[in-house]
Amino acid sequence: MTTDTAFGLEFSTTPSPDRRAAAEREAILADPGFGKHFTDHMATVHWTLDDGWHDAAVHAYGPLSLDPSASVLHYAQEIFEGLKAYRHADGSVWTFRPDANARRFQRSARRLALPELPVEAFVESIRQLVQTDVDWVPSAPETSLYLRPFMIATESFLGVRAAQAVDYHCIASPAGAYFTSGPKPVSIWLSTTYARAGKGGTGAAKTGGNYASSLLPQQEAYEHGCQQVMFLDSAEGTYLEELGGMNVVLVKSDGTLVTPDSDSILEGITRDSILQLAEDRGLRVERRRVSLDEWRDGVADGSITEAFACGTAAVVTPIAELRGEGFTIGSPTEGAGELTMSLRQELTDIQYGRLPDPHGWMTKL
Ligand code: COI
Repeated sequence: MTTDTAFGLEFSTTPSPDRRAAAEREAILADPGFGKHFTDHMATVHWTLDDGWHDAAVHAYGPLSLDPSASVLHYAQEIFEGLKAYRHADGSVWTFRPDANARRFQRSARRLALPELPVEAFVESIRQLVQTDVDWVPSAPETSLYLRPFMIATESFLGVRAAQAVDYHCIASPAGAYFTSGPKPVSIWLSTTYARAGKGGTGAAKTGGNYASSLLPQQEAYEHGCQQVMFLDSAEGTYLEELGGMNVVLVKSDGTLVTPDSDSILEGITRDSILQLAEDRGLRVERRRVSLDEWRDGVADGSITEAFACGTAAVVTPIAELRGEGFTIGSPTEGAGELTMSLRQELTDIQYGRLPDPHGWMTKL
């Protein structure tokens, strides 16, 4: 057992025997897919109202033991994050803006009445887990180790109030492209029947309920041959919000990037980074309400030339077309937009260490 102090929290690490032979691991790393395989270890920190955060550990990956009355199972008091570890050409392993994920995790915790994990403990849990499972960080092009920190209410109690016992965990999964088609342009289905989140709701938090409510409309998207679902604002059904699991950005013919501003969408860290890179190039960025009509009219008159989805899992994925009942914006035969792909290239070049990191976004693990 080794120990490491992280700002008052002592992470103990108990290495477990490898669950898979080296040859099996290498076969997985060569073609990991997304979210299918998990490494040998996980990080855990417990919290109780009386004792605060305690017992930080990296230990064998395995099933959780939960009381059937644990509040997360009944009232969905839970939050999560997504970030990645990248292997650079010299073999070193880095992650991207982990402090931003840690701060968003704290904002999500506040909204879900969960305790806030200190930023340093969040980052340290990732460092400890990745160092322990470093052989699971792939090196094939466009692959990474996807990290999934999450927090669940474990108290055994059926009254509806904030739980007084909570667990934080982080698991890791070698990852290739989120969409099976890779970074090729995707088709999006517009849901007019369902909303993702309402004013004053939990839309800006990264909590499972937002994703659960997107699953039925996501099924409709699949039935229409689309890979993702697009939601409009719940009040008027007029303005773009976000996709089931990623943000959306439109590109105008003069290079201006336009993205929805709303208090019911997730503040995407990939989106924020892409917009920063665009501003660095002297491009204009507009964070404001964007109506469906603006997208339709802009594509029709040529003033909107590209659209893309972005998120940790999706990275930057071009959108070929938006389809809904009785209408289509764009065309599936249109190629990936030039600006979209060049911003994607710049972001991934920074993440994989092929370009200097002008904003100090990368953290060595
Ligand atoms: C991420 O991009 O990290 C997410 O959590 C979105 C999900 C579609 C995997």
